[in-house]
Amino acid sequence: MFSRREFLAGLAGAAMAPNLLQSKPVLAGTTDTFVLDAGETSLTLPGCQNPTTLWTYGNSWPAEIRVKRGETVNFLLRNHLKDHTAIHWHGLRIPNSMDGVPYVTQAPVKTGEEFLYTFAAPDPGTFFFHPHCNTVEALGRGLAGAIIVEDPREEGLFDLDRTLVVKDWRVAGDGTYLSFMTDRGAARAGTFGTRRSINGAAAPVIAAPPGARVRLRLLNVDVSRIMTLGATGAEVNIVATDGNACPPFAIEDWRLGPAMRVDLALVMPSKPGARVEIQDVWGQEPFLLARLVAQGAAKTADRRPLALPTAELPLPDLKSAETFSLSLQAGVSDPTLDAWLKENRFGDDALCRAGKLFWAINNKAWPAMDMDKRPPPLAELKPGRTYVAEIANHTQHPHPIHLHGHTFQVIASSRGPTRNHWADTVLVAPDERVKIAFVAGEPGDWMLHCHIIEHQETGMMGYVRVA
Ligand code: C2O
Ligand code: CU
Repeated sequence: MFSRREFLAGLAGAAMAPNLLQSKPVLAGTTDTFVLDAGETSLTLPGCQNPTTLWTYGNSWPAEIRVKRGETVNFLLRNHLKDHTAIHWHGLRIPNSMDGVPYVTQAPVKTGEEFLYTFAAPDPGTFFFHPHCNTVEALGRGLAGAIIVEDPREEGLFDLDRTLVVKDWRVAGDGTYLSFMTDRGAARAGTFGTRRSINGAAAPVIAAPPGARVRLRLLNVDVSRIMTLGATGAEVNIVATDGNACPPFAIEDWRLGPAMRVDLALVMPSKPGARVEIQDVWGQEPFLLARLVAQGAAKTADRRPLALPTAELPLPDLKSAETFSLSLQAGVSDPTLDAWLKENRFGDDALCRAGKLFWAINNKAWPAMDMDKRPPPLAELKPGRTYVAEIANHTQHPHPIHLHGHTFQVIASSRGPTRNHWADTVLVAPDERVKIAFVAGEPGDWMLHCHIIEHQETGMMGYVRVA
């Protein structure tokens, strides 16, 4: 076991510093430590007259951490919140003990306690982190951050690299919160925010030199919203899906569900003052996500292709693959579970769930029993073997399905030709069947759930066991 005391002694300098994200070398070699203070910060959200109290990592929103691929880093979570918490590193293929799922991979980190995460991020890209219990409220209050894994192979490819964290807030005009969860929303498409934001504000206006090569990292950290992307003013391509490089393709009509990310690449128009806009075109009127304005001394043409170096992920071997099915269901009632819930009226918190069940996977609502009597895994997998999961959506709502600790390939859809791409979260439309393929990774129990958080917390969650 890691010696906490020794570590903290070494960290004294950082621990005394103000409530900020910071990187301080504390051990010899390349290990850095980021101190992540989970606490409260106030911020006036777009369209509000008063500040809202957010839950944040460090005292600004959104937190952004940049690490280098393959470099071992420490993250010291210090919990100043009234709730217990933990950090799940969404999309990172790291050991199960670092996965941050309370009651499953670690004990909850109580108020005043700390937890040290140590890992080396194996893959470059745009990822994020967030808690995994009472998430409707915690994420509703903002507890999430971006983690960017840099790759030396990408150096100098872009003149500008910006992160856009998209999130809605359930707040009234006076800045106070509305209820984070409603039965109506939880049982349907999710409860939507009342104020939209990009990096906690209205859409940013970003000045960029004419001819500049721009990379935008777009993260949807909202609990419910699904966006349809579009752009005007330049050719804008998606160059990474969920952080993983892909051959560039046009942004138009790409759907970005909760937890999904894309990296966008474009060249600024050469005319000074020209604008490029990135939009969510889902609604009647396009919603502006970012505006770039060509300004300043022009960049000379750079002829290198606007693409990222190829993703280096374990390639599924489809010939030897084993298949399993995941059936997404609504309104499943499990009589054993209902009876058990009636008998055991202990806090729902002990189960990280919201106390009502609207959804299920393979006829099992999470959790069927308490944590000692967890439901059996949705599948039992062997490390290094290829699996194809067929995810069938038997409900009337789309579900962004996320598998922890693995990056999979989306290989087929019943709706027709599919763009084969890497992902950790895949949006499955009503009545659609999607096939994903992946190589089972590190041993452990890996959660699999819908990332519409109200769905996750009302049953649509399970896990696969790699052993
Ligand atoms: Cu981003 Cu289990 O979640
Ligand atoms: Cu869902």
